[in-house]
Amino acid sequence: MTNDRASFGSRLGVILAAAGSAVGLGNIWRFPYMTGENGGAAFILVYIGCVLLFGAPIMMAEFAIGRRARSNTARAFRTLAPDTKWNWVGRMEVLAGFLILSYYAVVAGWTLQYIVEAAAGNFSASAPGNYVESYNAFISNPWVPVLWTVLFLLGTHLIVVKGVEKGIERSSKVMMPMLFILLVVLAVCSLSLPGAGRGVEFLLKPDFSKVDGDVLLAAMGQAFFSLSLGMGCMCTYASYFKPDTDLPKTAFSVSVVDTLVAILSGLVIFPAAFSVDIRPDSGPGLLFVTLPNVFHQAFGGVPLVAGVLGVMFYILLALAALTSTISLHEVVTAYLHEEFSLSRRKAAGLVTAGCVVLGTFCSLSLGVGKDYTLFGMTLFDLFDYVTAKLMLPVSAFFVSVFMGWYLDRRIVCDELTNSGTIRLRVCRLVVFLLKFVAPIGIAFVFANELELI
Ligand code: TRP
Repeated sequence: MTNDRASFGSRLGVILAAAGSAVGLGNIWRFPYMTGENGGAAFILVYIGCVLLFGAPIMMAEFAIGRRARSNTARAFRTLAPDTKWNWVGRMEVLAGFLILSYYAVVAGWTLQYIVEAAAGNFSASAPGNYVESYNAFISNPWVPVLWTVLFLLGTHLIVVKGVEKGIERSSKVMMPMLFILLVVLAVCSLSLPGAGRGVEFLLKPDFSKVDGDVLLAAMGQAFFSLSLGMGCMCTYASYFKPDTDLPKTAFSVSVVDTLVAILSGLVIFPAAFSVDIRPDSGPGLLFVTLPNVFHQAFGGVPLVAGVLGVMFYILLALAALTSTISLHEVVTAYLHEEFSLSRRKAAGLVTAGCVVLGTFCSLSLGVGKDYTLFGMTLFDLFDYVTAKLMLPVSAFFVSVFMGWYLDRRIVCDELTNSGTIRLRVCRLVVFLLKFVAPIGIAFVFANELELI
């Protein structure tokens, strides 16, 4: 197949770029509060099971589809399955991306506010309870968070318009390791806080009596969300891969890195939460109310250190979120650009404008619009629920069926083994997982949640 598409430069660059999409607010913000709401250690074990059995194989499937078809997600399904309804899976993925980006940008915006707060020295004076109060006051303010959301979307827009391959690869190479190191430092600080032990216990002592349908669905949704699956992100990135990229190995490495970052975030957040008596199930604000306490007390509580640590952390978090929003934005932009023959600039403009509108509503739904609920959820929660717990698993289900049952086995193995040059046995295992384990597992979790079984 001729290839005039841009491609990533080095093998490490490939892994880091895919990891850049995967590692983001999903790991550092969403994973800890999901863990907190769903009972701790048992949730984490279920989560790891979901990553190994569904996540990694489906990432391989998305890689294979993307590299084979070398196009945006919707077109990839059309290329590999012409004149079939598989088209709709691609379209649903694009829609999911659009909705995720809209509320993701709201939280990404919060990180910008917290950079400013840390720089202003606000993390060295307060008592723990004050951080909760100032967080609540901030997210319910009618215009400040909206402004940050719009700013974040504009930043994403600029990068996507410029073309992303080089930028993503180069910046990921520096930022990802830095983020990792800083998380390790913060975990050590957090673990040394008085009373941190209860947080560690919460993370390590599983209580399986807490695992029910809700917990299973939450863990599965979190796995797809965190690995950027079910939305064509990995498909799109793989369309820039080279023919000799080892897809199974790359998918496995990305899954491992992503999971390590999530667990490390748990080690930063729970010891701190227990140390200052913040409830682990306090929801989406968990990251933002516990961390200031870690900065505040780290290294003997020197204000300058608190400020520097805080600024560094929130900048890296914002950048991690940025590599993820770029990947979300890119999927929708590539779709509009190629399917409706709009210029890239126009396509990106439409995506940004749409997300600014939806993002504004999401942000307002946490404050002035709190009372407008749908199915008992605010707009922000609704977007999160509909995408992570419904759309991503459904489309991941179809991706695994597509690879496991629809596509010719030879094509699948050709991609997974680079035309037979690497490990055939892996291919057999992956096909088995995609054919039986993933679709049946996902269907089971759904049926369980709907109380059908
Ligand atoms: N995985 C990213 C995170 O953890 C978010 C993300 C980027 C995503 N692209 C995605 C989630 C595609 C689902 C689908 O922050």
